[in-house]
Amino acid sequence: LKNTALERIAAAADADALEALRVEYLGKQGSISALLKTLGKMTPEERQTEGPKIQGARTAAADAITARKEAFDNAALEAELATQTLDLTLPGPQTPAGSIHPVSQVMDELAEIFADLGFAVATGPEVEDEWHNFTALNMAETHPARAMHDTFYFPDRDGDGNRMLLRTHTSPVQIRAMKAEGAPIRIIAPGRVYRSDSDATHTPMFHQIEGLVVDRDIHLGHLKWTLETFLKAYFERDDIVLRLRPSYFPFTEPSVEVDVGYRQESGRRVVGGSGDDDGHQWMELLGSGMVNRRVIEMAGLDPDRWQGFAFGVGVDRLAMLKYGMNDLRAFFDGDQRWLSHYGFSA
Ligand code: PHE
Repeated sequence: LKNTALERIAAAADADALEALRVEYLGKQGSISALLKTLGKMTPEERQTEGPKIQGARTAAADAITARKEAFDNAALEAELATQTLDLTLPGPQTPAGSIHPVSQVMDELAEIFADLGFAVATGPEVEDEWHNFTALNMAETHPARAMHDTFYFPDRDGDGNRMLLRTHTSPVQIRAMKAEGAPIRIIAPGRVYRSDSDATHTPMFHQIEGLVVDRDIHLGHLKWTLETFLKAYFERDDIVLRLRPSYFPFTEPSVEVDVGYRQESGRRVVGGSGDDDGHQWMELLGSGMVNRRVIEMAGLDPDRWQGFAFGVGVDRLAMLKYGMNDLRAFFDGDQRWLSHYGFSA
């Protein structure tokens, strides 16, 4: 029985014939299965001699069937591969990828420009306390400038008079950086800031980059050179013309507001040239000044030894100017069509 079974299995023409043989020998009603059942009725001596023979036949048949089946499967696969052609020039599946948001892009560009000028990147919390956001920046509780900031306050739970708030500017990072690192120091601090204000040119959350240099003998000339150098690099043109106007910030003295020359070209503002030239205008770009000695003092440094300048510039405004957007609110809509219109899609 064993030999004929093995011969027939070897001769099976295809997978179907093989399956029929499996049923015939090893199925519930199969002839080898039937032999196995006879073992129960044998005497122990008979079982000793017959048992291994029957088991051997079963194992041999099962192994032969498995081997033959594998051969059939392989042959089928080979046949399939032989008829199939693979076009390796077809494009791969398109996986949609995200893209960098213009605000992130500009913050990266600025970090790179300032890194070349020796500035490190500093950060501070968006949920800030009154002391860092106002008091240490020379805005005492009764200072009118506090009211001008449209501040989002949290409830004063512990009643210690140092309320938590959403920072209204990146200037508190000046204090944190000076306290943490002392002087000399050269940092920029990019991040989100919040003011309760909303129209086409104001959103309740927007982005600033703070700049701070504290060292020996720092003067306004250093500030002007730094701003000119960074704006030339950022706008990738040499004809950047700045106008410095006297201004007021509690944390700088003197304070300087900086305008940049631009002209209107096919519906968008193009930075460059002097606002006093034909067809040019001035646009307010940023606030800056020499760090007020009271601020240096409150940050724990000796104002007779250390002087510095600081500036704060709106990142969203810088992005709009470079990439030609006109509505600030669109920055925060997350509309893919808007992003791709300005070349920011993947
Ligand atoms: N913090 C000021 C603002 O948000 C900008 C500023 C920064 C001005 C640093 C002077 C120095 O308007």
